[in-house]
Amino acid sequence: MRLDKMLANSGIGSRKEVKKLLKSGGVTVNGKMIKDAKLQVDPEKDLIHLFDEPVEYREFIYLMMNKPGGVVSATEDKRDETVVDLLDEAHKHFEPHPVGRLDKDTEGFLLLTNDGQLSHQLLSPKHHVPKTYFARIKGQVTEKDTEAFKNGVELEDGYKTKPGDLVILESGETSDIELTITEGKFHQVKRMFQAVDKEVIYLKRLSMGPLVLDEELELGEYRELTEEEIELVKGK
Ligand code: URA
Repeated sequence: MRLDKMLANSGIGSRKEVKKLLKSGGVTVNGKMIKDAKLQVDPEKDLIHLFDEPVEYREFIYLMMNKPGGVVSATEDKRDETVVDLLDEAHKHFEPHPVGRLDKDTEGFLLLTNDGQLSHQLLSPKHHVPKTYFARIKGQVTEKDTEAFKNGVELEDGYKTKPGDLVILESGETSDIELTITEGKFHQVKRMFQAVDKEVIYLKRLSMGPLVLDEELELGEYRELTEEEIELVKGK
C-alpha cells in the first residue's frame, strides 16, 4: 500500500494534508525519514512514525452522529445536504456510508461506517436489530394503540408489521411516546401511527441494537465509537 494512503487511513488527515506532512520531513519508515508519498509500505510489518509517534493503521471507521433535520441519509445527493457532507475531511477519506436511512426530517442516532459486513449485520431482516424512537404524536395515544402495536398493525399497502413495543410517556392533545421496532420498512414509524389514525409530528431515533445516542452530541455533531461500543455492536 502507498505510504500516503496508509497515513490517511490512520485518520491523520486528508491525502493533501498527508502530502504536506511528508514534505515537512515528519514521517519516518523503519527509522528513515521518507518524503516519497508513493513508497510502498506494509502496515503490518513496517514501523511508521509521525513526529516520533507511532502511526496506527486503520481500515474501518465507526461514527455515531446525532442527525439533524433537513439533511438526507445518503453519501451524495443532487439537491440536499447529506450526512456525509457534515463529516471532516479526515473522516470522509474513509468513505463511510450511513447504516440504514432516517427520513430527512428525522433526527437522532445514525451510524456511519465503511465496514460493509457490520452494516449488513445490522440491516439484515434476519437479525431483528431493535431500534428505539422517541416521537411526538398529534392526538391522544392510548393503551389501545400499545395493544395494536404489540400485535402488529397493517400498513396502507397491506403489510402486517412485526410487534412493536410502544411506551406512552405523555398522553394528551399531543402525546410523547417511545417505540421499539425490529424492522426498517420505509417510513415505518410514521406509517404505523397512520395505521392507527395518528400523525407523527416529531421523530428522533434513540438507539440501534446496543448503541445508544450519546446525549452530549448536539444536532449535526458526531464522534467515533469507543472500542467497547465497537465490540458490543459486533457482538463480541
Ligand atoms: N420511521 C420513520 O417513519 N422514519 C424514520 O426516519 C425512521 C423510522
